[in-house]
Amino acid sequence: MKNKYYAKFFREFLSRPRAVGALLPSSPQLATRMVGSIDWNSVKVALEYGPGTGAFTGHIIKRLNPDNRLLAIELSPQFAHLLTEQFPRATICTGNVADVAAICAEHDIDQVDAIVSGLPWAVFHDQDQEQYLDAMMTVLRRDGQFVTFGYLQGLLLPAARRFRRRLDKYFTTVEASSPVWSNFPPAIYYHCRR
Ligand SMILES: C[S@@+](CC[C@H](N)C(=O)[O-])C[C@H]1O[C@@H](n2cnc3c(N)ncnc32)[C@H](O)[C@@H]1O
Repeated sequence: MKNKYYAKFFREFLSRPRAVGALLPSSPQLATRMVGSIDWNSVKVALEYGPGTGAFTGHIIKRLNPDNRLLAIELSPQFAHLLTEQFPRATICTGNVADVAAICAEHDIDQVDAIVSGLPWAVFHDQDQEQYLDAMMTVLRRDGQFVTFGYLQGLLLPAARRFRRRLDKYFTTVEASSPVWSNFPPAIYYHCRR
């Protein structure tokens, strides 16, 4: 990832700390492991939540067959602009994941097979976590996959524990990874199946 993306990411963090939730983009090692945990054979349509400067996006695109689709939903217009230039293979939407059903409908998608999330769940308010997960369930197909990460140091925060309990409520299986130490800060990810 180019240095200008790190600078842009950090500036966005300073202006919207709660939405960005991280000082730096995720590392290629976290991206490789997290994206690699998905069974891509069963994926025709994928969504990315909160792609930021695209730490996961290129890794997802590499896994897609030519007739597969990737729709990425990013709150920041600055990030969305950058991603549109960088990843013409993906459809980048400026928007809120709370509106995922309407965004998918605009793109003639009624169901998705997998969702890769970069959202900072551990800093979201209780009602936002619930709203985003409820909205997700309107588009993620039965048996669909969801992967998301959390920073090790934040896992004991009340919001992170609430989110972890919610995963058990919303998904049939939830598997936590071993720590990815080569990320700043170190992180784990969850692979969930509806
Ligand atoms: C922790 S950053 C992760 C960026 C990137 N996925 C990575 O791992 O480097 C979180 C991203 O989620 C975006 N975001 C936060 N809340 C969002 C929402 N409700 N809808 C869409 N994007 C959101 C932020 O703008 C930011 O780009």
